[in-house]
Amino acid sequence: MNPFDPATLTRLAREHGTPLWVYDAPTIRQRIADLRSFDSIRFAQKANANTHLLRLMREQGVVVDAVSRGEIERALAAGYTAAPAACGASGIVFTADLFDHDTLDTVVRHKVPVNAGSTDMLDQLGARSPGHRVWLRINPGFGHGHSNKTNTGGEHSKHGIWHTELPKALAAIQRHGLHLVGLHMHIGSGVDYGHLQQVCAAMVALVKDSGCTLEAISAGGGLSIPYREGEARIDTAHYFSLWDAARREIATHLNRDVHLEIEPGRYLVAEAGVLLAEVRATKWQGGQHFTLVDAGFSDLMRPAMYGAFHGMSLLAPDAGQRPLRHTVVAGPLCESGDVFTQEEGGVVLTRELPEARVGDLLVLHDAGAYGASMSSNYNSRPLAAEVLVDGSDARLIRRRQRVEELLGLEEV
Ligand code: LLP
Repeated sequence: MNPFDPATLTRLAREHGTPLWVYDAPTIRQRIADLRSFDSIRFAQKANANTHLLRLMREQGVVVDAVSRGEIERALAAGYTAAPAACGASGIVFTADLFDHDTLDTVVRHKVPVNAGSTDMLDQLGARSPGHRVWLRINPGFGHGHSNKTNTGGEHSKHGIWHTELPKALAAIQRHGLHLVGLHMHIGSGVDYGHLQQVCAAMVALVKDSGCTLEAISAGGGLSIPYREGEARIDTAHYFSLWDAARREIATHLNRDVHLEIEPGRYLVAEAGVLLAEVRATKWQGGQHFTLVDAGFSDLMRPAMYGAFHGMSLLAPDAGQRPLRHTVVAGPLCESGDVFTQEEGGVVLTRELPEARVGDLLVLHDAGAYGASMSSNYNSRPLAAEVLVDGSDARLIRRRQRVEELLGLEEV
């Protein structure tokens, strides 16, 4: 669960201050290796878009997904281009359900293939860039997620082109002379095998029923990681075999090779990262004990947003000798929902930890995905620093933001 030893984390906290994100490069490389059976691995950089991590991905032959102008610029800064990488897939693909003007300009200028989630996107792109390479992101009519907020399929989801609208989308592609690369489905984050089988079957049926020809299919992302001790690790070989069977069926039907892509975010980076915070206060509120740390939901939003669970450990030389205490772990924000121990719906829970003292370090585990990338400046708190550890090498890959930089934006 924790790729780091306490001494390294304590040294890094002293050197760089807290809150601090720390990532382990070998863990990321290992997770990439788990998925090598797929023809291409496209990293959903929304999980963690630090350009140093994107560079690590590129060195490993992983291509990248972008969902905004900013993410396209990040990919370019990390050395990616829209051209096909060694794996045969485009270095960058832009996935969205709409274009803002700035992003449409950028996509056209850099010829970034587009994974379109609406026919309006096809019309807007076709008018500007005939021949542009496009994927269609299809909403198969059902979805699944670790929380309602991460379910990206079904009729209550804004995502994707509704499956029965595929003929219209194909007609728009034809009308505008766009080039169809393939179909893509991502029904949510935290998908189980049952839903996975359902998506694979939906992909095969859609290709057969629509009569479209394509070069590739994308399995989307959604692979979960064991956030809680004892949770099973996903069987990536099984995951691949289900998609490979779908790919083969499609390839036989079309009588051509079909490229199989996967698009994980969390799986590649979640377990590689921790958030380090310092205990700054402890107190009793009636019968309830609180441990207050200097990181809040402005740093790690997942517990407040989804009731997500993150393992925690206390770093102190004598932590093993201290009595265990059930405590609410909370942050510095002026908002009662700034609690790391909570369930979806805001129900406050406790965690059993060695009794914390001011100055101890708290490690929030498995925070490499949707941690730093979802941070905000709420309560005018600067974004935390990020460090990448690779064996004996520990590098600062993002410096801490300065309060002056926040104020600077308002010098208009
Ligand atoms: N592809 C598409 C089109 C997506 O929308 C997403 C995630 C992914 C791939 C990657 O999904 P992953 O493999 O990471 O599950 N903030 C939430 C997750 C939101 C995911 C949004 N889309 C969380 O912290 O759990």
